[in-house]
Amino acid sequence: MNLDQYLSEAAAIEREGTAALSAATDVDALEAARVAFLGDRQGRLKSLQESLKVVSKEDKPAAGKRFNEARAHLQSLHDERKTVLGRARQVGAKEDLSLPERRAWKGAKHPVTLVIEEIEGIFRELGFTVAQGPEAETEWYNFGALNFPPNHPALDAHDTLYLEGGGLLRTHTSPVQVRTLQRYAPPIRVLIPGTVYRRDFFDASHAPAFAQIEGLCVDEGISFVDLKSTLNLFAERFFGASRTRFRPSFFPFTEPSAEMDVQCGICGGSGCPACKGTGWIEILGSGMVHPAVLEAAGLDPERYSGWAFGMGPARIAISRYGIPDIRILYDSDVRFLEQIAGPVLSGAEG
Ligand code: DAH
Repeated sequence: MNLDQYLSEAAAIEREGTAALSAATDVDALEAARVAFLGDRQGRLKSLQESLKVVSKEDKPAAGKRFNEARAHLQSLHDERKTVLGRARQVGAKEDLSLPERRAWKGAKHPVTLVIEEIEGIFRELGFTVAQGPEAETEWYNFGALNFPPNHPALDAHDTLYLEGGGLLRTHTSPVQVRTLQRYAPPIRVLIPGTVYRRDFFDASHAPAFAQIEGLCVDEGISFVDLKSTLNLFAERFFGASRTRFRPSFFPFTEPSAEMDVQCGICGGSGCPACKGTGWIEILGSGMVHPAVLEAAGLDPERYSGWAFGMGPARIAISRYGIPDIRILYDSDVRFLEQIAGPVLSGAEG
């Protein structure tokens, strides 16, 4: 092969290779063109390199130089196309790569769920497990076993929907205390989140269906000291509250009973709109489990004692996030959810 033949063969391969690599519109076509021209086994450049052997000694430097040029050109064209087509494959073929990325809000946890999960986390560390019970409940579990005397005024706050064929929508998570005690032997430490129902107007601070979290601890020798120390520790962890106070209260299923307040974290106790000027935020009801409740659940109140609490995570979410109206929690407006949960965004193709 003389030099002229070699040079025109090299020019042909370079021209055809350029055309093939430029025509490839996806990564697979580009790879096929690469194998055909740059491939180690049967690529056209490979055979051009082979034919260097039959070029005369004095023509070899010029032929070799031309071969190197053709190969360098095709190789860099290939690499460049590969980058472009690879990017196009990621965002979908034929996209305009100069457009800004399209992003969508993927959703996130509801503020009440965030509060419940954080509370669960704290109590789990204290050895509590999470239990659940039915929302359609019997009158006995909802009231009778919890020591509500028939026609007692305490029932007024617990009006609810009664179901055909008996039963009702539970007005609190407390019936799950009894169900748990019937099912498992002490020592018991459970946290019971769930939805409850009341005949309440749907206004800025009430909803007819809302979440509660119940806590229950029953064993031999449990005292009010356990109640206070555990709930104080919880308040410290959850609210960062340096001070709490317990006010005497009444619930049929606890004796004694207490409402627990934490010092307002916004004003530090001096009084502000968040705490309605009192310096305190009421967070839960609690007390020592009434002996009648232990008895109803089949436990000997002479042997066992316990403490319990119930709280409303929506109320807590409202004060924590400064939400002005409880109804917002039920609106399913993703703009509000995003404000609380922060931006959780996905790229164009998820
Ligand atoms: N069940 C009560 C309610 O819904 C809340 C409550 C208060 C639960 C005191 C308790 C407790 O376990 O000890 O109003």
